[in-house]
Amino acid sequence: MPSRLAVLVSGRGSNLQAIIDHFAATGKERLAGIALVASNRADAPALKKAEAAGIDSATFNAVDDGTELLRLLHEFRIDLVVLAGYLTKIPSSVIDEYEGRIVNIHPALLPAFGGEGMYGTRVHKAVIAAGAAHSGATVHLVTDEYDRGPLIAKWRIPVAKSDTAESLAGRVLQVEHVMYPRIIEMIAVLHQLESNSSS
Ligand code: GRF
Repeated sequence: MPSRLAVLVSGRGSNLQAIIDHFAATGKERLAGIALVASNRADAPALKKAEAAGIDSATFNAVDDGTELLRLLHEFRIDLVVLAGYLTKIPSSVIDEYEGRIVNIHPALLPAFGGEGMYGTRVHKAVIAAGAAHSGATVHLVTDEYDRGPLIAKWRIPVAKSDTAESLAGRVLQVEHVMYPRIIEMIAVLHQLESNSSS
């Protein structure tokens, strides 16, 4: 049975779009499919992308103890939670129940340039200000601490002398769009392997 993904978004949704396109183009819907796109923000442009792709979407209250989000994840029988530009902390109740099954992508090489408040342009500005020779993208499991969960994959790219936060963000985003859908596919297959061998 395909893994049922929930993609949590707060903003633009370009990673969401890359995941939608990947599973559609590769015909790998039998491995995994997005069952739900959920957002803490009713005005997130990503919700329109879900709608255009015919995927169920919902908004939820992210300042409660996780009750609303858990209710949605149960209702849609979600196996794997994918954070794609989701900017609010995941409550402990959700992390406990979905331990090892919540992934995030960060636009730098963790553990550097991560942690609370490190998102969007701030990350790329910090990379440039530090004079780092490389940046990149990191996919990791989500735990109670911002950007500190076990690392799954990293891809490194050079920072050019002429880079601005915007130009670097654009190149990192290209990497994210290649990397994230494929890593999600890998995780979905590995989870299936695990559940087949334990049943
Ligand atoms: C990406 O850079 C991702 O690494 C970070 O938030 C950004 C989301 O962009 N977690 P988008 O909404 O997927 O376009």
